[in-house]
Amino acid sequence: MAGQLDEYGMVLNLSDIKHDIKREVTEPLDFSFLNDVWPEFQQTLPTTEHIAKVIWQRLAPHLPIVQIQLFEHPDLWADYYGNGNEVYLSLRTHFSAAHRLAIPGASDDENDRLYGKCARPYGHGHNYHLEVTVRGTMDDRTGMSVDLGALTQLIEDRVAEPFDHTFLNVDIPHFADGAIVPTDENFALHIRDLLETPIAELGATLHKLKLIESPGNACEVFGTQVSDPFPQLTVR
Ligand code: NI
Repeated sequence: MAGQLDEYGMVLNLSDIKHDIKREVTEPLDFSFLNDVWPEFQQTLPTTEHIAKVIWQRLAPHLPIVQIQLFEHPDLWADYYGNGNEVYLSLRTHFSAAHRLAIPGASDDENDRLYGKCARPYGHGHNYHLEVTVRGTMDDRTGMSVDLGALTQLIEDRVAEPFDHTFLNVDIPHFADGAIVPTDENFALHIRDLLETPIAELGATLHKLKLIESPGNACEVFGTQVSDPFPQLTVR
């Protein structure tokens, strides 16, 4: 939700919000069989993206909603911004890889100044986590915005499996000649280039990638078709 602060320093009264959400959404849905509970789900199946849209429609008369984010589980969620059948679906996966950050030909001192510990000569490993967000148009019959199985498989086949347990500087052709240093940023851009076309072939658009190198740092890149990365940040 979004809005101007009131004289009490709040956008909305938190207690009122909780009551609205409970009355309109969580109470009717909790322990229910979703297909039967609301008429919307008899017309269109309760996929994660469709549930997010219907929750929006049911809360919008009561609250200044700007985004609904609904997790099916920690590695799959939908975002809905109130724009017709346009939905954003995100998947999270992980793999492990090693790298060394150093410019070939530069002295050890120079690489140390540039990259610090990351330039140590024998490399080091990371447990990478990758979040892929695609934008799609939900089908009114199926409730799906993209073939989730195909998207999951594509990310596995193009990224998670080929990079897993590799030394990026040696095993991955994109980085192997040393011209492109496998920083989180360069790696995220490379993954974007690997995924953008196959995602388009599934009928969706790559919106955003988040490559999480460690609990302390991550890099986000947006799809090349994304003109305004933050369209939802408008306060009514
Ligand atoms: Ni590193």
